[in-house]
Amino acid sequence: MTFQVFLIFSILVSTAIAGDGATAAYVPTDIFLFNCGETSNQMDISGRNWMAEQPNILPSNAAIASFVSHASFQGSGVPQVPYMTARIFRHDFTYSFPVSPGWKFLRLYFYPTRYSSDLEAAVNSYFSVTVNGFTLLKNFRADLTAKASHDASIFKEFIVPVSSGYTMLNLTFSPSLNMLAFVNGIEIVSMPDRFYSKGGFDDKIKQVGNSIDFEINNSTAFETVHRLNIGGQLIDGISDTGMFRPWLAEKFQLSEKSGIVPVVPGVKINYMENTPAYVAPEDVYTTYRTMGNAEHPRLNQNFNLTWLFPVDAGFNYLVRLHFCETLSDVNGPGQRVFTIFIGNKIAKLDMDVIQLSGGSRIPVYLDFSVLVGFESGPRPDLRLDLHPYTDSGPKYYDAILNGVEILKLSVSGGNLAGPNPNPTSGLTPNSVNQDIQKPKAKSHVLVITLGTVGFAIVLAMFIVVVIVMKRRKKKKKVNVDTKSKPTDSWTTLPLVAGSSHTRSTTSLPSDLCRRFSILEIKSATNNFEKKLIVGVGGFGPVYKGRIDGGATLVAVKRLDVSSNQGATEFEAELKMLSVLRHIHLVSLIGYCDDENEMVLVYEYMPHGTLRDHLYKRNKVFDPPLSWKRRLEICVGAARGLQYLHTGAKDMIIHRDIKTTNILLDENYVAKVSDFGLSKVGLTSSSQTHVSTVVKGSFGYLDPEYYRRQVLTEKSDVYSFGVVLFEVLCCRPVKLESAPREEADLIRWVKSNYKKGTVDQIVDADLTAEITPLSLEKFCEIAVRCVQDRGIERPSMNDVVWALEFALQLHEAAKDKNGVDSLDIPRRDEVGTTTDGENNLFSRTTGRMSKSVTSDDDSARLAGDERSGSSWGVFSEIKDPRAR
Ligand SMILES: *[C@@H]1O[C@H](CO)[C@@H](O)[C@H](O)[C@H]1NC(C)=O
Ligand SMILES: *[C@@H]1O[C@H](CO)[C@@H](O)[C@H](O)[C@H]1NC(C)=O
Ligand SMILES: *[C@@H]1O[C@H](CO)[C@@H](O)[C@H](O)[C@H]1NC(C)=O
Ligand SMILES: *[C@@H]1O[C@H](CO)[C@@H](O)[C@H](O)[C@H]1NC(C)=O
Repeated sequence: MTFQVFLIFSILVSTAIAGDGATAAYVPTDIFLFNCGETSNQMDISGRNWMAEQPNILPSNAAIASFVSHASFQGSGVPQVPYMTARIFRHDFTYSFPVSPGWKFLRLYFYPTRYSSDLEAAVNSYFSVTVNGFTLLKNFRADLTAKASHDASIFKEFIVPVSSGYTMLNLTFSPSLNMLAFVNGIEIVSMPDRFYSKGGFDDKIKQVGNSIDFEINNSTAFETVHRLNIGGQLIDGISDTGMFRPWLAEKFQLSEKSGIVPVVPGVKINYMENTPAYVAPEDVYTTYRTMGNAEHPRLNQNFNLTWLFPVDAGFNYLVRLHFCETLSDVNGPGQRVFTIFIGNKIAKLDMDVIQLSGGSRIPVYLDFSVLVGFESGPRPDLRLDLHPYTDSGPKYYDAILNGVEILKLSVSGGNLAGPNPNPTSGLTPNSVNQDIQKPKAKSHVLVITLGTVGFAIVLAMFIVVVIVMKRRKKKKKVNVDTKSKPTDSWTTLPLVAGSSHTRSTTSLPSDLCRRFSILEIKSATNNFEKKLIVGVGGFGPVYKGRIDGGATLVAVKRLDVSSNQGATEFEAELKMLSVLRHIHLVSLIGYCDDENEMVLVYEYMPHGTLRDHLYKRNKVFDPPLSWKRRLEICVGAARGLQYLHTGAKDMIIHRDIKTTNILLDENYVAKVSDFGLSKVGLTSSSQTHVSTVVKGSFGYLDPEYYRRQVLTEKSDVYSFGVVLFEVLCCRPVKLESAPREEADLIRWVKSNYKKGTVDQIVDADLTAEITPLSLEKFCEIAVRCVQDRGIERPSMNDVVWALEFALQLHEAAKDKNGVDSLDIPRRDEVGTTTDGENNLFSRTTGRMSKSVTSDDDSARLAGDERSGSSWGVFSEIKDPRAR
């Protein structure tokens, strides 16, 4: 969507900001407050007037697609207006609001509760909301967001551009599947021209970690994720500067040691041209937090003022920081100077509020942009640290912050939607807040601080490092440049990692590597004792071992020097794993290259491979995986792959996704392993594939890749689809002993999917538990993954979405029915012979296990022998698991 000049709008705005632009509040050109489902105008508790829905904003099919309902219960703290009535949608429903061009605040109000006429379904329904081509919410469940924020009712604020070509805001609610959607109130308010897109002081948006300024063009939408009055109280919408933005009381501040909130006598704020009065209310600028310690200022060098803001991964954020010095002691430049870190990177080295603003009691704000990647999971914390900057010899070793706004920016395609929060896991914003206020918060805070500050240490221990060794002293020798210059720190590596470091093995800083001596390795493995071998991989045996005086269990992979293929894959694996880190990728701890040995040391995966828990499981010790756990494992593995495809600067294609390369830790968290065949590709969008010699594993290989010899990330998607089928049906991909139509798992599932009989081929251990909606969603995405043509397959982003959705559907159905119950008939009732199946499984099992336990490379994969073709190259998993 393109945007044109807002000429008319600018004129409107300049007249709206009456007279002296610096001191006046903003008078919006558009204000709509609609109390959805209400037929008369009503006033809310703050005195704002909410209109009844007017016919001109409703679509012509309003009566068919929706109906009006009243909440049957008013929770404590839930205002009557606009929450007690709702419009509930059966089908897609579009409101059209006539507006002037320019960015608009769009606030949606939801009260997820029981509505009259038995509409519980409206409460835990999933739905999507789009507006003028932007996706604001996708598979959204209002009650999950409410639970996570410990509020009964919620509102969401978006900022949406309206181009001068369109003078309508078309707001569409789309219920998922056979569900309902609902909304209680809709608010639209205009704002000053380019208010959040032109930057703060100097009209610049500084990109954290990049010297080029960030540009926000006229086709970006925003979601407000945090807007806080630091050091102060809640400022409700009516007390804002005309835009009705609520400013919440401070949350998310970390260590109680760090900072005080001084009581400031009533001061008058002098708004000047750089920061006109509509930017933020006086209450924001009169309250603040500093580090304190006025008597022992040097103490402040030992800590930071720190806030952790929960955000969704995969988006750029605009971070707006508000500052104002109001104390008479701090009255000149150079007196209080501090460094601002955002996401552990320097955003501004020497922030001097007075110098920027021009004087005491004059406010100023700065805008930064920061990209939040997936390396710490889907809902990481964005960290803000302030630290005294002492190089210029300031009078006070201190820092100050008055207000903060964090806005999520839409990605290309206009998406703003993130996953639903998980109300039961992690620290919710409120719980952080409460813990800080509790007197005995100390130990708790300490844990958080250790957990986060120790992040780098944990990473350094668990993850990675590198490399490389002389394979045989005389032959091809890969240099480790042990003198290469150290990189800044571990924490700066991840996002850039895929690029330079993976391409060159020689630039890896040796101080980042944990390098084991051969003596350490021998003592860890009892001198490579045969009894400790837990698996045999493509390039040698894998031992279970203990390092650090027995404290840490590890898997030790030892290269069999006679294996040529192995050495190449071995190096590839080192190169990849040394620069990748993600909770869903297996972690390399270190390596050893003494005495002609090549050894890799990994974190130990007590639960072995995914396949071990499907059709190769020990029926006595390992109960079958529940459907929920299978979904969680699939989501985890999908996230690992998603990270490879989109999380690093260069796309990485794994090329060997299969159930034996998905490992499970002690909590059954899935970890993608084996990067021996991985390829770094696609540095720019113009290049869409890599040409390679076709490699992969029999049964999992993308047929299009095989035909065209052109590798894209969609080959991984195909292989992952096969994994999903195995998870669902609990059998190997190829089963030659089975009846012809069943021999090929992919064909079998596809044909059953077409006939609508997938429920009859689901793993017998699941049929009692699996819920129809989640099964449907799961099959839909799995079948799309194995489409013949790559372009018809979904991206891993879509796969993650769909699987998470399937999991939520399953959980929702379970919650509703108490115990999982379902009308899918058990398999033995529908006529498939369970016995016959079991026989097939055990026959195959015999053959497959031979290939795994054999020391002989040639027997690695049944598929190789049968096909006799050259493409059966693969690297079998080294099973790091005790049997
Ligand atoms: C705006 O920026 C986005 C992302 O930077 C880009 O994809 C889009 O083409 C731009 N649109 C215009 C109209 O410049
Ligand atoms: C966006 O619109 C404004 C007018 O409001 C115009 O001045 C500006 O050049 C536009 N920016 C882009 C990137 O198109
Ligand atoms: C909104 O809907 C109206 C009426 O259906 C249509 O004319 C207009 O183009 C739509 N605007 C946008 C931005 O989609
Ligand atoms: C302050 O924060 C920065 C960035 O997160 C970090 O590098 C630094 O070590 C911290 N300093 C202290 C004293 O905690």
